[in-house]
Formats: sequence, C-alpha cells, structure tokens
Amino acid sequence: MERIVLAYSGGLDTSVAIPWLAEKYQAEIVAVTLDLGQGRELDDVRERAMAVGAVRCHVLDVRAEFAEHYVLPSLQAGALYEGQYPLATALGRPLIAQQLVKIAEMESAGAIAHGCTGKGNDQVRIDVSARALNRAIRVVGPAREWGMSRPAEIAYARERGIPVPATVDSPYSTDSNLWGKSIECGVLEDPWTEPPEDVYTLTKSQAEAPNAPAYVELDFEQGVPTAVNGVTMPLVELIASLETIAGAHGVGRIDMVENRLVGIKSREIYEAPAAVVLHTAHRELETLVIPKDLERLKRGLSSVYADLVYNGLWFTPTRRAVDALVADVQQRVTGCVRLKLFKGDCRVVGRKSPHALYEEALATYDEGDQFDHGAAEGFIKIWGLPVELAAAKEIGATEATATRSSDS
Ligand code: ARG
Repeated sequence: MERIVLAYSGGLDTSVAIPWLAEKYQAEIVAVTLDLGQGRELDDVRERAMAVGAVRCHVLDVRAEFAEHYVLPSLQAGALYEGQYPLATALGRPLIAQQLVKIAEMESAGAIAHGCTGKGNDQVRIDVSARALNRAIRVVGPAREWGMSRPAEIAYARERGIPVPATVDSPYSTDSNLWGKSIECGVLEDPWTEPPEDVYTLTKSQAEAPNAPAYVELDFEQGVPTAVNGVTMPLVELIASLETIAGAHGVGRIDMVENRLVGIKSREIYEAPAAVVLHTAHRELETLVIPKDLERLKRGLSSVYADLVYNGLWFTPTRRAVDALVADVQQRVTGCVRLKLFKGDCRVVGRKSPHALYEEALATYDEGDQFDHGAAEGFIKIWGLPVELAAAKEIGATEATATRSSDS
C-alpha cells in the first residue's frame, strides 16, 4: 500500500485532504504537524488527524530550528521582499519541506503532500525544496487537484463527518508563525479598501496604542540578537517578547501590493512586529560597524536574498554563497541599538558598538577635531578632475553643435 506524508495544520483543507488522498491514491496517510510558533493550540491536533483517518500523526516543535536556521540568516541578510515583507510564510516553507522529506524517508513513504492551492507561492516553495532534498519523493497537492470550491469542500467534510472548524466563517485567509502573520482575502482583495481593524490580531491601532513611547534596547552579538533591555534570552523567546512590546505600540503593520512568483500581483496585509524591530535595529548596527563599500554591497544582496526566499530557492548554492558572505560580515555586528516605539512608529534613537567605525574626533565640529582640513583641497582637486575634464569637453561639444547647425 502506498504511504503519503501530509503536512497537517488541523484546518479544513488539510483535514479534508486526509480522506481525499486515502481514497484517491489508495494510500495510508501519515500526518505531520509542525509548531513554527503559529500560536494555535496543537494539543488535540494528533487526535483530530487520527479521527479523520490518518494512521499516525507526528507533532514536532521546530521553533528553535526555524528561528536559528531560517529566520536568523534572513535577518542578517536584511531580507525584506520588495522592501517590506519580512518573509515569515516564505521562510517556513523550506523547513516544512525538509521535515516532510525527513519523515517520508523514516516512514518509507513514496510521496509527501501539502494543502497549498495552485495559485500561490507556497506550493512552489514546498515542491522545489522537496525536490532539492530528495528527488525520488513525489509531491502531491490535493487542493490543486480536487477542484472543489469552498462550499463543496464543506459539504465533502460534512458527508464524511469531518469537523468543520469555526474559523471557516472567517472572511480572511491567514498564515502565522513566530516571525509574523499574513492576512489575505475578503475585502482586502480591493487594494483601495483600508483594512478593517479586525484583520489585526498582533498589533494595536495607533489610536489604541499607549500615549507614552516605549524604549527598547537590543543587544547583538556577532549579528545575533541576544538581549532585550538587558535581559538575555534565547532567540525564540526574544522574538516573542518583541512581538508583545512592539505589537502593543502598533508597530509592524504592513499593507502592500506584491508581485507573486506565479505572475500576479496581490494585496497583502502582514503583521510582523518583531521582524520590523529586529530588521531596523540590525541594519542600524551594521551601518555603524561596516565600511561604506561593504554596506552598499550588502544592501544589494538583501534584495537578492529576499527574492531567493520568496521564490522557493532556499536549498541552492546561491543562497549558501550569500549566507557565507553575510556570516563573514556578522563577525563585527556586536553592539546595542536603542529604539523608540510610539504609535506605530519604530525609530532608532541610539546605537553603540565596540567595533564602531564612527570616530567622534573625526566627526566633531567642536574642540578636538582631528580631521585634516588642509588635505581636503588636494583630495577635491583629484576627485573632481574627471568631472572638470568631461564638463570642459561637453561645453566644447555643445558649442560645436551650435556652430554646425547655424552654418546650415
Ligand atoms: N504572500 C505571502 C507569501 O507569498 C503570504 C502567503 C500566505 N500563505 C498562506 N498559506 N496563507 O509569502
């Protein structure tokens, strides 16, 4: 008998997928539920999977793995898709694929399955990652194949006694993990419509945010955030604690139209309070400690990295090569950044580092200025030489053209 390992969230789609796959492929279904910090109750997920016909259900806490090996490198790379989206959903997919493949190998299963639709980026990320890890394992996407509408799916579930979750009435489709949440569908599909307040669950509105700012001091050691306001904590906890503080001050709401890999533009709402704070702070610290040319090189690679993650190219030599460069840079990224969170705004108000390239004696306009003002004159002469030459020739050229045209 064929065996299929299914990524099981406990929601309607993947609950329907269990009997659907079992019937269609005459297979036994092994469910896998991963805790990526989505914050949903996973206590009874195993029972629910078994109740709808799974032969086994593996429930795994992969939060630390996700934070350290997926979120952290993307933070250090400065990866924000199209300048804004911190990639929470996108970063989770290669890890989900990796776990599915690992369990399929353990279970001697010939295929893995997921509940992604045929219209999104997530299917691409999971399928491509799985094929990179083990090309012998087939990937099945029941929601791409069954062609059921939402009501048909609910009817299918009712017929087979599959409990339909209460959230099925929610007008929004969401995906969450410890790095943030994405919200789509319903009224949000009109890019002109302001998101109603009820789409937001992790962040307060500006109006509801406290009238006094919060100050947050973030310590980094070699590019790794290690402490919030002097309290050292592991990465998973640090992210959770920043989510609480920043979310309460309304920081981390993103409303954008993005370019999907499958060719369409889509309107996306994200809530990523911790990601916004950490990206802001990390970038600031890098600015303080790395030289100008390296800073520019690295900024350019940020969008390359974001595209790799977004487009499902995690398990590639390109990503590993960029990681190696980024890791080298991180050796200097030690220090502290002070941020002010206020009514949705996250602003850097201070930064310090033992590796700072900032030197007050060179920057100051006060007593003790050590900058060699006299040297500026010679520097400018040579710096401006090509400008001077080109400008001189250009005036000549313009005059020549003018003369020629007046001759004719
Ligand atoms: N547009 C985002 C992305 O491509 C969010 C996707 C949301 N996925 C989901 N299964 N609800 O990463």
